[in-house]
Amino acid sequence: MRRFPCFRGLTLAVVVLLPIALPAVDTNFHNAPDSAKALKDPVEGQPQAMEEGRRLYARNCLSCHGKNGQGSGNVPSLADAKLDSVPAGEVFWFITKGSKKNGMPSWALLPERQRWQIVTFVRSPELLKAAANRHPPAPGGTAASLKAPPPQPPFADFRYEKPGTTRKITVNDLPQPYATKSAESGADVVARPANVWPIAPAGFKVEQYATGLDSPRLLRTAPNGDIFLAESSAGRIRVFRGLTSDGKPEQMQMFASGLKRPYGIALYPPGKNPQWMYVGNTNEVVRFPYRDGDLKASGPSEHIADLPATGGHWTRSIEFSPDGKKMFVAVGSESNDDDTDTNPQEKNRADILEFNPDGSGMKVYAYGIRNAGGGLAIHPQTGELWCSVNERDALGDNLVPDYITHVQEGGFYGWPWWYIGAHQDPRQTGKHPELKDKVIVPDVLLQAHNASLQPTFYEGKQFPAEYREDIFAAEHGSWNRSVRAGYEVIRVPLHQTGHASGEYEDFVTGFVLPDGGVWGRPVGITVASDGSLLVSDDGSNSIWRISYTGQ
Ligand code: HEC
Repeated sequence: MRRFPCFRGLTLAVVVLLPIALPAVDTNFHNAPDSAKALKDPVEGQPQAMEEGRRLYARNCLSCHGKNGQGSGNVPSLADAKLDSVPAGEVFWFITKGSKKNGMPSWALLPERQRWQIVTFVRSPELLKAAANRHPPAPGGTAASLKAPPPQPPFADFRYEKPGTTRKITVNDLPQPYATKSAESGADVVARPANVWPIAPAGFKVEQYATGLDSPRLLRTAPNGDIFLAESSAGRIRVFRGLTSDGKPEQMQMFASGLKRPYGIALYPPGKNPQWMYVGNTNEVVRFPYRDGDLKASGPSEHIADLPATGGHWTRSIEFSPDGKKMFVAVGSESNDDDTDTNPQEKNRADILEFNPDGSGMKVYAYGIRNAGGGLAIHPQTGELWCSVNERDALGDNLVPDYITHVQEGGFYGWPWWYIGAHQDPRQTGKHPELKDKVIVPDVLLQAHNASLQPTFYEGKQFPAEYREDIFAAEHGSWNRSVRAGYEVIRVPLHQTGHASGEYEDFVTGFVLPDGGVWGRPVGITVASDGSLLVSDDGSNSIWRISYTGQ
């Protein structure tokens, strides 16, 4: 029934009257209009389209529909042979539109060409074959990978994440490309079992601040203590105010809606009395008027600047320099590792861009940063811009490390030709030798494929003094690693120097079950006005509150 949900609206009697063997010839897939059937797949049968479709599937669809298209929970299988009998145009129509209320996103923002490539791939016999050959379902990757030998430190995976454990990855630890195979182990998110809860270091307590949210993403605390949240797929910004005695917000309201995949939120000017809220939609920066106390935007959004948005990494984070003169916007790459010289769609991507706050004067502030769209932050004392970066995939389990670093103006961070200093990407051999010695080694190397998202500086007073001005960051978790890594909140101790030593620490863990099933995925992080830490999680659709009790 899932395949033709329009039946759900009919009475059982009607369904029973249909002869069993008769295909439902006049039922369009998910009620697609008749015009959809006539859409022709412009890339059908092209081997290159299959290849691209496979890659795009892994990036966009695998996390829900599974590595082999097998589906899980309420996510239907795409590999049960039915899709190939559905006209390509109807599948194209459905993925373009999505089915938001049932949890299938709209993919209208992917370029049309890419949507057709995905359609080609999901309707091909390849998924079907993969499903037939697949091992018994094992949410953490394969059962074998869970029994894999312990990782060689400094590398780690979820089985060994433990609050308080310090790690340090250096350039000398990097393996050769392809030292291990490129794995696919996306997070098939499962429900949180009732007795499972995030785990924090001794002396800290974790409470559920809010739940039932719609894919909660970036968090931002306003000077008056209000907490803003981007619900990107729902296109809106929510706001929370106050705290009840059992640790929940006293008020919750929709600040703005109808936005195009909003992610970054920044108040302007910096300081105690902001007048505007800037929002990074996937294709533009907009701003709303903002006054202390607003729970709802008092006026419509104003367009500030266009951003490149042809698909791929879609989050856009925003920060202002402490003097309010510059606006920084991180725009991730379209692709995993396309040569930017030959793919014009990569122009002004994999960069941190700089603008005047009115949107004029765009220039590239730092480049070769594959995707810092997940998070920027300004150090409260030094005023330096820092970022959290997702590095590239498909070179093996421990390459290329994600990272957190302060950003040098004009700095080159390697992508796509180089990585972590003078290491050439094997897919770009021989290119840009003149850049080899320019590649900056970032401050803190994280586990490869961690999907490091929002960072924040701890400016609160509640945690012990040693935490003051340390970085906390949300690690969304890997798909391209044989045993999962990430799925945790980390701490980057700066020891009150303003500089990183390369170390980081597991801080809040426990979002992956022992069998590898993922129930939680940290995305956004902010310090509340009482000094507790709030962490959004788009696996369980919650916000967690971590406070220090000393017990
Ligand atoms: C956030 C999870 C999620 C992601 C990501 C996702 N899907 Fe879905 N998908 C769903 C859910 C849930 C449904 C069921 C929707 C319904 O029945 O209305 C669905 C349904 C579908 C269907 C209809 C299947 C059927 O038998 O009815 C197709 C086709 C599909 N998805 C393709 C894709 C493709 C292609 C991508 C990637 C571009 C993708 N999905 C990404 C959750 C997801």
